[in-house]
Amino acid sequence: MSEKTAASRGSEPIIFLDDICVTFKTRTGSLFKPNLVHAVNHVTLKLMPGETIGIVGESGCGKSTTANVMCGLQSPTSGKVFFKGVDVTKRTAEERRQIGRVVSVVFQDPSTALNPRMIVHDQLLDPLLVHEVGSPEEREKRIRELVSLVGLPKSALNVLPGQLSGGQRQRVAIARAMSLNPDAIIADEPTSALDVSVRAQILNLLTDLKRDLGLSMMFISHDIQTVRYISDRIVVMNGGQIVEEGPAAQVFNEPKDPYTKMLLGAAPSLLHPKLGESA
Ligand SMILES: Nc1ncnc2c1ncn2[C@@H]1O[C@H](COP(=O)(O)OP(=O)(O)OP(=O)(O)O)[C@@H](O)[C@H]1O
Ligand SMILES: [Mg+2]
Repeated sequence: MSEKTAASRGSEPIIFLDDICVTFKTRTGSLFKPNLVHAVNHVTLKLMPGETIGIVGESGCGKSTTANVMCGLQSPTSGKVFFKGVDVTKRTAEERRQIGRVVSVVFQDPSTALNPRMIVHDQLLDPLLVHEVGSPEEREKRIRELVSLVGLPKSALNVLPGQLSGGQRQRVAIARAMSLNPDAIIADEPTSALDVSVRAQILNLLTDLKRDLGLSMMFISHDIQTVRYISDRIVVMNGGQIVEEGPAAQVFNEPKDPYTKMLLGAAPSLLHPKLGESA
């Protein structure tokens, strides 16, 4: 534990993507000359301890592919991936387990992350069992901590995900992502499948968690206004490449790339209309 704290205070990135490319073969093209999609093109990115990075860009620009490389779901075609200084590009099964303890993902649609036939209690127990965390009593204690951490009532433990509202389901998915005390959370459009009325609550929950627990966070959105208030740094992607990055205020106040200017010109966020107007 002390090792973890020491490492997280150091200047070593939690995640370091070093010149990553991801290429997909499409179904079009011929067998010997398939057409290729360059989903991610020479992306270099460091996520530092306690830092929140917002990745923005329009649909298809490679945000999710970058996120999947960051959490180990997708192998890069070229380039290297480091977790806390360890090269995990060609990872073994054991390294994959370790990755699961360093970074967790929260997806757009909580239903995909949860098993519809398992009550919430068992969904939260599952990662603790897989990683052999604590004794049975300690695991029950951790489950109770997790529900209160994400602001769910204890009664939610005994129901199926389908019996909860969309916002509550996303809270369960966040609790599950938090269960192993990760160093970083990657949230890929965590609010865009939710009703507008609960989006701000989920954003606030994620912001509170990162502040209170000193988490690093990678927050992905196609809407630059959504990431504006929670990001320390903003990375703008277009066509698989990073076209601009910098401190959030700088990217908003003095955008350099024409694409960033175009994104900023788009409709202001529904979540922060007042702040949007004053800018
Ligand atoms: N498994 C795959 N096979 C083939 N092409 C893929 C695959 N996954 C993604 N792509 C392509 O790679 C590009 C980047 O996709 P990606 O999902 O990373 O974009 P995104 O920025 O997350 O978009 P969105 O905002 O719609 O979620 C797209 O052109 C997409 O069609
Ligand atoms: Mg995506």
